[in-house]
Amino acid sequence: MQEIKVELTQNPKQKPADESKLGFGKIFTDHMYIMEYNPEKGWHNPRVEPYHAISLEPSAMVFHYGQEMFEGMKAYKTEDGRILLFRPDKNIERANNSNRRLCIPEIPAEDFLNGLKKLVEVDQDWIPTQPGTSLYIRPFVIATDPFLGVRPSDTYLFMIILSPSGAYYESGLDPVKIWIEDDYVRAVRGGIGEAKTGGNYVASLKAQVKAHDEGYSQVLWLDGVERKYIEEVGAMNIFFKINGKVVTPVLNGSILPGVTRASCIDLCRHWGLEVEERRISVDELVAAAKDGSLEECWGSGTAAVISPVGHLRFEDSVMQIGGGGIGPVSQKLYDTVTGIQTGKLEDTLGWTVR
Ligand code: COI
Repeated sequence: MQEIKVELTQNPKQKPADESKLGFGKIFTDHMYIMEYNPEKGWHNPRVEPYHAISLEPSAMVFHYGQEMFEGMKAYKTEDGRILLFRPDKNIERANNSNRRLCIPEIPAEDFLNGLKKLVEVDQDWIPTQPGTSLYIRPFVIATDPFLGVRPSDTYLFMIILSPSGAYYESGLDPVKIWIEDDYVRAVRGGIGEAKTGGNYVASLKAQVKAHDEGYSQVLWLDGVERKYIEEVGAMNIFFKINGKVVTPVLNGSILPGVTRASCIDLCRHWGLEVEERRISVDELVAAAKDGSLEECWGSGTAAVISPVGHLRFEDSVMQIGGGGIGPVSQKLYDTVTGIQTGKLEDTLGWTVR
C-alpha cells in the first residue's frame, strides 16, 4: 500500500448552513484525492490536496474519446460519531470491472480504499447528519495523453471528490414518474452498458430531455436490440412487485450491476420474499398494471437509494402504481438500507466499513 501525502487547505470554505437545502452534487468539500498513472511507474503519487481546478491539455484524450470511469458511493456519520462507508469493496470491484472494459489500468484495491478513507477522514466535518443526507463520494479516472489518435491512453489521473448531498430527486421519497422510452436506446449487449462511464450517461440525455418536457423525472430504458425488455433507469436499477414476487431485470451485459440493487435482492430474500432476476417485457408490465397484479415499483441506486415509482408511461399506456404512495416493500427497503448506512440499525450483514 502506498503512503498518502496530505496537504491541508489554508482557506477552508464555508460549510453549508442549512442541510435541508443541500440538493445533490452541487457543493464540494475542502479536499480531493489524486493519484497518477504512467506505464513506467504504474499508479503512483497518491495525495490529498486542497480541492482545486485541474489543468489539462485541450488535446487530453478524455475530451475527445471519452475514456473515463466513475463511481458513486456514500459516507455517513452515526449518532455516536462513527463514520461509515457502505460496501466500498463492491464499488471498488465494479470500478475495476469498468476499468478493464474501458482499457484503463486497474487501480490496486487497497490504494483505492486507503485513499477514500483518508479523504473522508480529512473532510469528516463536511458529512451532513440530517435524515436523508450523506456525503456523496465521486471517484473517477480520466485519460490524459495529449493525442488525437484513437487508442487507449498511456497516462491517467484518478481522483476522488466529495459532495455533501440530500436526496437525488427533489421529490425526496415521494413517488417519481418514469417514462419508458421506445425510440432512443441507452446501451446494447457487448457495448459499455455495464461499465460506469460517461458515455452511457450522455447517451441518455436526449430521451431524458424529452421525458422532462413531458413532466417525467427519468427514463426507463428498454433493451437496445428487440426494444422489448426492461433494462434500467440510468441513475438507478428497477424493481417490480408482481403477484407477490419481487422481479428485477437479470444482468445481461447492458445493465449496470448496482450495489444497492444487489443489497435489495439480498434483503428481500432474507425476508423470505421470492426474488426473480429475469427478462421482463414491457408488454408483461403493461398487462400486470392493467390486471392489478403490479403491486409496487421502485428504483435503487447509490444516489437515489430507494425511490418509489408511482407512475409509468409507455406509449399511450399510463400505469398508476400503488395509489401514488410508497409501497410496503419499498418503504421497508428504504428504512433498512438507510438504517444500516447511518448506523441506526445493527449491521448484521457486515456491509458497512468504518
Ligand atoms: C449513483 O447512484 O451514484 C450514480 O452514479 C448515478 C448518478 C448518475 C447520479
